[in-house]
Amino acid sequence: MNIHNLLSARFSHAIQAMGIDDARIPLSRSTRPDFGEYQFNGAMALAKQLKQKPRDIAEQILANVKLDDIASKLEVAGPGFINIYLKDEWLSAWCERALQDKKLTIEAHESKTIVVDYSSPNLAKEMHVGHLRSTIIGDAVVNVLEYLGHKVIRQNHMGDWGTQFGMLLAHLNDKLQKSSFAETALSDLEDFYREAKVRFDNEDGFADRARDYVVQLQSGDSACLALWQQFIDISIQHSEDVYKKLNVSLKREHIMGESSYNHDLANVLSDLTEKGIAVECQGAKVVFMPEMINKEGEPAVYIVQKSGGGYLYATTDLAAIRYRASQLKAQRTLIFTDARQALHFKQTEIVARKAGYLSANDSYEHCPFGMMLGKDNKPFRTRSGQTIKLSDLLDEAIERAAVLISQRESGLSISAKQHVAETVGIGAVKYADLSKNRTTDYIFDWNTMLSFEGNTAPYLQYAYTRVKSIFRNAQQDMDTYFAAVSVVSIQEHDLVVKLMQFDEVLESVCKEATPHIMCAYLYEVASLFMRFYEANPVLKPEVGEKDRNSRLGLCALTAKTLKAGLDILGIDTLEAM
Ligand code: ARG
Repeated sequence: MNIHNLLSARFSHAIQAMGIDDARIPLSRSTRPDFGEYQFNGAMALAKQLKQKPRDIAEQILANVKLDDIASKLEVAGPGFINIYLKDEWLSAWCERALQDKKLTIEAHESKTIVVDYSSPNLAKEMHVGHLRSTIIGDAVVNVLEYLGHKVIRQNHMGDWGTQFGMLLAHLNDKLQKSSFAETALSDLEDFYREAKVRFDNEDGFADRARDYVVQLQSGDSACLALWQQFIDISIQHSEDVYKKLNVSLKREHIMGESSYNHDLANVLSDLTEKGIAVECQGAKVVFMPEMINKEGEPAVYIVQKSGGGYLYATTDLAAIRYRASQLKAQRTLIFTDARQALHFKQTEIVARKAGYLSANDSYEHCPFGMMLGKDNKPFRTRSGQTIKLSDLLDEAIERAAVLISQRESGLSISAKQHVAETVGIGAVKYADLSKNRTTDYIFDWNTMLSFEGNTAPYLQYAYTRVKSIFRNAQQDMDTYFAAVSVVSIQEHDLVVKLMQFDEVLESVCKEATPHIMCAYLYEVASLFMRFYEANPVLKPEVGEKDRNSRLGLCALTAKTLKAGLDILGIDTLEAM
């Protein structure tokens, strides 16, 4: 149930009934409790259009709009706002419906085919924190889209091609000659990369050999390809270990690395040249972009082939757009990378549209994110200044959570505590990231993310187990629980309105690809629940049976909403902690 859409439809009807043709229905959530829950604020614009007084228009709308079943009160306020107060009976009836509905009355959407390009690490190196953000934000958005019924195609656009592989293959070849196994040689990709780079910069003849490897790789030499494949396989396994620890949905079949487009790059180039979009410039092939000029009035230059004949990241992205449109039938594409790539994707979209690779109705959305910073406000690194390996970071999260969990009275066994530590530790790292507006940088801080207070994973996980324990004490099964619900107190009213807004929240996350909206929402749900629970005890002996059952219903609905939301964010819940 989407309250916003329902109210909009009713207002739209009323305005049509008044003979006014205006498709805009500005409706928002009220900013203050004494303005009701929602506010219609379209009377002012209509008044201007009709040359009447806004309050008169608002009164006319009020007379026409049919909301008896939904609203307990409607009032005209200020210059012509209409405040809407939702009715307790309506909220109660919804609770009963939602308790019996696995999807919590979420409305079906017109399903679209959506390509989500996320995680996409560079296989030459170990995954780093930037890929953590892409992986978990992307996965949360994928979950929302699927929850709403869209067809999602995950694309892990791994960086598995390019000149840097020349030096890596030359180095790998030498190591294998010395009878080391590829798995051992590549057990630490970061070290391996560094060794290769040192040789490339200092060792006589090595750089030339590295360049030879690039040429062989690009010409499809089979021995070289086999060596490359070995490297790629091991590096993919490293990423998969991280995916497993992180509990994200990416699988091998979602990998569509840069190398998959290699065969098509020449076609893209010739197509762009034929269409007169790419032109020769100092031996290279470039697209001049008059839509983007610098201070001197010169157009931006987008290179699609280097003067030596090599292709670029950009060429591959154009090939990817073509493939996704023609083969995958993408109607919408979302790409999650850090904000430094914003210009690249903006330009790529312009070129792709010119070339007709994207049709007018198809959207291409780069979803940028900021950096993860250390407490010193600088990019997050180890004390010695090295990039932090993701898998080490996740292990540390579990260790730190284990210390906290061991200090809590819970009566859990040692192995149960270990499971709690894993769930809380990984949940905390993911949630800390997801709960920040992705477009800004954020400071990585173990203490805040592992706190049981505030907008954190442990707080929400704890709120969930609290309801679970209420149900254990009541000797009822939460998942199948049903009761007649009557919303009476103000705390119940506020909690239920919030629970009903789950659908609206999903819709905004779907539109904006911003999981932090879901996090903020779940935190509000948990906080309103705590307030309700304090004011309206559930299992105390003085509470009558009807009230007790109704309140248990609200407890169940709260926990189901928290669980659905956390599942979507990729964060596990616990029965007890
Ligand atoms: N491999 C790139 C990086 O690590 C991200 C790729 C994003 N996707 C794309 N289609 N360009 O920065």
